[in-house]
Amino acid sequence: MDNPKHVAIIMDGNGRWAAQKGLPRIAGHSAGAKSVEEVIKAAKESGVRILTLYAFSTENWKRPKHEVDALFKLLENYIDSQTDILIKNDIRLSVIGRIEGLPDSVRRKLKSVMDRTKSGSSLLLNLALNYGARTEIVDAVRAVAKDCVSGHVNPDDMDEKAFSGYLYTKDLPDPDLLIRTSGEMRLSNFLLWQLSYSEIFISKKLWPDFKKSDFVEALDEYRNRQRRYGK
Ligand code: FPP
Repeated sequence: MDNPKHVAIIMDGNGRWAAQKGLPRIAGHSAGAKSVEEVIKAAKESGVRILTLYAFSTENWKRPKHEVDALFKLLENYIDSQTDILIKNDIRLSVIGRIEGLPDSVRRKLKSVMDRTKSGSSLLLNLALNYGARTEIVDAVRAVAKDCVSGHVNPDDMDEKAFSGYLYTKDLPDPDLLIRTSGEMRLSNFLLWQLSYSEIFISKKLWPDFKKSDFVEALDEYRNRQRRYGK
């Protein structure tokens, strides 16, 4: 099989990485941001076209406020330091999730970087922020219902393809490969609709330890899998 076109990643284990080193959790997130840079490069070099990263879930708000604040600060710093690099590397940034629920400063920065990278065509870096798959599906159902009530859509015309068009990922193909780090075997409310037929690769490594060679190993394993789509 060819390399996957769309890879989605649940970046897990930053907190444990920090705890193992006797560091505060946010040090794990900072180290995780370095893995993000490395995996973006590896994805681009491998011909992956879309990389969707689970950066902040709707459940992550339940973490202590100082950790949530630090995560958004880290994201803002990441955008500031990486925008020129993204442009130079022809990478476009997009986001999925309830973006209206993010802090104003983060939203402004995201809008600016999406604007400045919009002609990027080598890789789409898609950040899932304030993302929850059940929320996404509920948002879609609500929009479908409104379109039915207003007469724009006939309920009998609704099928899987039409419904996909109401999701945050409406312009994207489903992920071919899902990678999750830190050995956990859960989907954690990530892309529940879109991952129906994706191959899953679980790495025992904690996210800050997940490097280019680990990403390449996941692609190697993917190429050796046979996808049958239930056939
Ligand atoms: C999971 O580790 C990680 C997160 C909740 C956040 C992911 C964020 C980053 C990798 C930082 C930067 C991101 C970008 C896009 C620049 P965890 O805290 O759940 O770890 P644990 O399970 O060991 O506690």
